[in-house]
Amino acid sequence: MSVDLARAKAAFALHFGHEPEAGARAPGRVNIIGEHTDYNHGFVFPMAIERDTLILARKTERPRLSVFAANFEQEADVALGAWERHATCPWMDYLVGVAREVELLGHRVPGMECLLLGDVPIGAGLSSSASVEMAALRLFEEMAGFRLSDPDAAALGQRVENHFLGVASGIMDQFVVRAAREGHALFLDCRSNAHEQIPLALADTVFVVADTGVSRGLAGSKYNERVVECAEAVDILNAANGTRHTHLRDFGLEQLETMASSMPNHVYRRARHVITENERTREASRIVTPGNASRLGELMNESDRSLREDYEVTCPELDLMTHIARTLPGCFGSRMTGAGFGGCTVHLVSSGHTKDFCAGLSCEYQRQTGRNAHCFVSCASSGADLAGS
Ligand code: GLA
Repeated sequence: MSVDLARAKAAFALHFGHEPEAGARAPGRVNIIGEHTDYNHGFVFPMAIERDTLILARKTERPRLSVFAANFEQEADVALGAWERHATCPWMDYLVGVAREVELLGHRVPGMECLLLGDVPIGAGLSSSASVEMAALRLFEEMAGFRLSDPDAAALGQRVENHFLGVASGIMDQFVVRAAREGHALFLDCRSNAHEQIPLALADTVFVVADTGVSRGLAGSKYNERVVECAEAVDILNAANGTRHTHLRDFGLEQLETMASSMPNHVYRRARHVITENERTREASRIVTPGNASRLGELMNESDRSLREDYEVTCPELDLMTHIARTLPGCFGSRMTGAGFGGCTVHLVSSGHTKDFCAGLSCEYQRQTGRNAHCFVSCASSGADLAGS
């Protein structure tokens, strides 16, 4: 666990005046490949990173959920059952949204005092929100005495995003944050929820995550716009083929190509990204265990090109960073990761070059943008679990 448990326990005791009785943690994630495919019922290939959210808690007699967010030094306190968006503490919405969904399943969330603490970068495309949601769920399961399967837990988190927070996101983030296994990437079929833990056997390579420092400001609205454009493509393809498919997952590249000139060009390009990205993701899941780093690097580069030119979810800083990365020795491949419009990039780099790669990337990126590029290496970590009890 990346967050210091002893420090968190001391902070809990200092704030609430007694020891916590339970705790749960959940990681952030980086997506290796398979971007904007999950809500199209396609394939994704993320891994959990060594950055965590930790929630410590103690039951109280008061029928309230009181949470102190140590990172912000803010406290939010809501009555149980008053599950509404918080006026001043957006981070509280993740806990309240999860509590609301837990109660909709028929379980009772008890009165609690909680301390929330984490080191998953916020708004950087590393799923800090799914990390809070899955840590909260694991905690509520423990406190209320029930346990969901991993797919049901992930679906609950997705409902929080879709119904409570108004983001039409897919299931990738919550799934990997809940179900990841150390040393493995998760290959997930976002239609059936069938998933496979794939050992990351890429000898002498590391994944470097680098933050552009551009916060994903537009992500919410542009994200939902892409969801709508994909649905438009499905309608056009269904009409042309006499089918009633629900998602882009169901169409092949040939079917799309025959319709290329009969649909708005941007809709065609959105669909081309999704269809080709699904193929790249399936291939990636087959080549990491044999350890084919150079092919994985090519797939990552190709994914990035498709996200930039066809899906149009990058931004100048993301493009600059991946461009610089590809000029540096030891880099197999680079791409934006997560929703896009800012946030992080991920790079597959040979271990011997890691230090120089990070230094070179940060230095050149800062020279050209004036922004810091925060770089870190992460091994594949494990999913949500209990901590600190
Ligand atoms: C965000 C969403 C995910 C997924 C990615 C893009 O992280 O929460 O569901 O759609 O963007 O791949």
